[in-house]
Amino acid sequence: MKMEWGGGLSTLPLGARLGLTGLCIVLLGGLAASFQHMIYHYENRDERPEFSVDDVVGAYHGLNSPSLLKEALENGHPETLPADQRSILIEWLSGSRIVEDYDSLDLEIPPAEILDEQCLQCHTRDLAESQGIPSLEYFDDIKSISFSREVEPTPVKILAASTHAHALSMSVQGMMVLLLALLTAWPTRRIGWICALMGLGLMGDIGGWWLARYSPSFVMLIMVSGAAYSVGQATLIGSILLDLWRGKKPRTD
Ligand code: HEC
Repeated sequence: MKMEWGGGLSTLPLGARLGLTGLCIVLLGGLAASFQHMIYHYENRDERPEFSVDDVVGAYHGLNSPSLLKEALENGHPETLPADQRSILIEWLSGSRIVEDYDSLDLEIPPAEILDEQCLQCHTRDLAESQGIPSLEYFDDIKSISFSREVEPTPVKILAASTHAHALSMSVQGMMVLLLALLTAWPTRRIGWICALMGLGLMGDIGGWWLARYSPSFVMLIMVSGAAYSVGQATLIGSILLDLWRGKKPRTD
């Protein structure tokens, strides 16, 4: 199909081009703000600072990862640890007073003392760094691998509300950008592929929110599709802006 237009957006009257330019720039700003908002919104989902894939898994699928420290002890590491001290540590890590009881004198032997005596010959910060194993030298190090992480996914009701808001607005926004892009003087076929990237990206992104509830492998779909949607849309908006001001004379044929 060839559109009977051909002149591109640069043939529009100056006022319309100024208006469209402003709207396109605001839309680009909105895309950037969405990205920043997403990081703020999800960065603490996995109970650890900094944004990572676990945050997205936590939000859309839920996360259940046992404490690294407890797991190692339960698996019999280190072999040299006396059984009674192992039970004290495991009991301490299974309770809800990990911080309070770390050096508590109420326990038979405080966990801090056991860790100092039984682990430090191999788990100082220096040794840990050179061997790629966790450090157990300071409580901050120990704390970071002591807690199990159980993250509930976003409740279905909230996901439905979010889908309702995003599916309706983002699809229509995508259509507007797509239509404008098709009205530019850029080759329709090339613009078409970027449109495909944007449209299928949005479908994969929002579809992934629901599929990820069943399997965490769909979290990758969310991230890749979300990126495809954003990159596709930003590219189309850029193409529209360039076309608005390309300064070519209107076609006379
Ligand atoms: C003789 C040296 C040695 C001692 C003593 C030792 N570790 Fe280790 N630890 C290692 C090595 C080597 C590894 C990495 C290989 C492995 O997982 O066995 C490791 C790994 C670990 C890990 C990471 C496991 C994982 O899956 O990544 C934890 C947690 C750990 N040790 C805790 C402890 C605790 C707690 C103690 C004391 C109660 C202790 N270790 C005593 C040498 C030691």
